Amino acid sequence: MEFQFISVALLLLLQPSNLLALDNGLALTPPMGWLAWERYACDIDCTNDPDSCINEKLFMDMADHMASHGFRNLGYEFINIDDCWATKMRDDKGMLQADPVRFPNGIKALADYVHSKGLKLGIYGDLGSHTCGGYPGSLGYVEKDAKTFADWGVDMLKLDGCYASEADYETGYPEMSKALNATGRPIVFSCSWPAYIKTPNYTRIAEVCNLWRNYDDINDSWDSVLGIITHYAQNQDQFQPFAAPGQWNDPDMLIIGDFGLSLEQQKAQMAMWAIFAAPLFMSNDLRKLPKESKDILQNKEVIAINQDKMGKQGRLIASSITKHSGQRKSPEVTNMVFARPLDGGDLAVAMLNTGHFSGPHNITVSFKDAGVSWSKASVRDVMNGMDLGMFTDSFSAPVNPTGVRLVRLTPAK
Ligand code: GLA
Repeated sequence: MEFQFISVALLLLLQPSNLLALDNGLALTPPMGWLAWERYACDIDCTNDPDSCINEKLFMDMADHMASHGFRNLGYEFINIDDCWATKMRDDKGMLQADPVRFPNGIKALADYVHSKGLKLGIYGDLGSHTCGGYPGSLGYVEKDAKTFADWGVDMLKLDGCYASEADYETGYPEMSKALNATGRPIVFSCSWPAYIKTPNYTRIAEVCNLWRNYDDINDSWDSVLGIITHYAQNQDQFQPFAAPGQWNDPDMLIIGDFGLSLEQQKAQMAMWAIFAAPLFMSNDLRKLPKESKDILQNKEVIAINQDKMGKQGRLIASSITKHSGQRKSPEVTNMVFARPLDGGDLAVAMLNTGHFSGPHNITVSFKDAGVSWSKASVRDVMNGMDLGMFTDSFSAPVNPTGVRLVRLTPAK
């Protein structure tokens, strides 16, 4: 008995980080699923918008579609609620409660439904006094709320950071992480911590969270997608090294199948999120998803890059600016090349043409820039499922405006 006690105490002493760190064994590859916010935001008007308001039917519909239209089997497993699901006040016992009109059966029944489809349910909270939408936050209620979520059968928590101070982030995220672990229920923990502060301590954040938002909210436009990609390119030294199994940088939701992106741009978002080892949370209407968008979201070879088990996030390896002539304000076309090493020795490369003007132009990836030791590789266009042949030292291909060429390089034997 005594020996057992000593060995447990020793173990705890030897691994002090386990007491606080998010050692929950979850999200070993970037989590995939669906999240309500970008598409449905805080629409609570179910009288006028019965099919697009935040209510239990919306999440049940999406669960049905994820299960029956091929998404679940490809790894999209989470159905995630965002803001505006709760009542504006806690109940008389201080518990969070779902809006009784929009969620008449409560979150537990919704979780049961989602689980019956072989899927998982995520929910949203905030570590401050209120959520960004003005619903009750967890400040002062961390343990209680963690327990509530676990009792409801929730599988993931996105904890936002509105109505909080810098000091609240330092304490609040670790506290919730610990409280979730203490429930004994596996709950993936998604933080917004770095998005709220100037100089995030990613070492600490990675100990506490499974994924974390780095940057502004995505909206339904190419400008927004390109803004995020550019932020990732310009700040990669700050956070790229922290991506690994169980801990991911989160550039925010996929807006593929919505209104703001051309087909090329939808492919570009999917390709870049694969290179970034990003969580893949679609925010779209799966009930009315255009076939071309569905094909992009369900592209197995692209998903395989995203889900690569080594979990290394890709980096910008080259960029260049081309000046167009013959126009009054000659626009600049910027090429960006990103590379991501994969398990087994392959390399995924995304060649991005951020220009808006004129037709496709050639982008070259030099194998040397990619930092690989080999000089000869076979190249496969994974977005289009085509083998392109064997190349030495470099590979070039035309890339459409605001488009991407996503290739997989396999070194020659
Ligand atoms: C913040 C988050 C968004 C969303 C909203 C909800 O803006 O960054 O992703 O959760 O709050 O109010």
